[in-house]
Amino acid sequence: MRSVFIMGVLILIGFALLAIGNAAEQASLRHQAENARKASQDFSQTLKAQLLVAIRAGGPMEAIAVCQQIAPQIAVQYAKEGLQISRTALKLRNPANAPDEWERAVLTGFETAIAKGDDPQMLERFEFIAGKDGNKTFRYMKAIPVGQPCLVCHGSDISPSVREVLAQHYPEDQAINLEQGALRGAFTITRDMP
Ligand code: HEC
Repeated sequence: MRSVFIMGVLILIGFALLAIGNAAEQASLRHQAENARKASQDFSQTLKAQLLVAIRAGGPMEAIAVCQQIAPQIAVQYAKEGLQISRTALKLRNPANAPDEWERAVLTGFETAIAKGDDPQMLERFEFIAGKDGNKTFRYMKAIPVGQPCLVCHGSDISPSVREVLAQHYPEDQAINLEQGALRGAFTITRDMP
């Protein structure tokens, strides 16, 4: 009888510990997500601002260089804080930005959500996944919709000179003829957890 009681208590303690562990995991996930959300917002704002400045100063030809160079430069800053941040898409301009399996599934989910009428500005996805060596990895993605300023280089009415430069650099460019409000791609963030 006594041993049954002790066993009962032990099982209860086990459940309590599991619940505490779970709550801690959820809190850590929320914390990582807030961080990642902020990083992707900053990234997005800096990129947009630089693009607009370059377009105003030298037109889209000047801005092509911004889209190529600024994103990796900002990424270097975040790498110092342990955040790997980049951009990816299903319809790619630069094949080097190709999504991995997890990213492809999330992007497909974003497409489905937008087709159902969800606001692309609001779409994000995050979770902890098991890393290669048994470590935990935090992953985050935030959808990037096509906005008005993006159309000069990703829309259907691209000027011949811009078209020519794009064709030179990106012979397999799929990121054209996009409509405003469609999914352009996503910011993607990875952090290896200690
Ligand atoms: C002046 C031309 C230009 C404009 C304007 C522009 N882009 Fe791009 N975009 C590019 C180029 C060039 C690349 C390829 C960059 C590279 O080589 O990594 C690119 C790549 C991207 C990528 C990375 C995925 C891929 O296909 O390689 C995303 C995401 C993206 N652009 C989103 C946007 C959004 C959102 C806007 C509007 C706010 C925008 N772009 C406006 C030229 C432009």
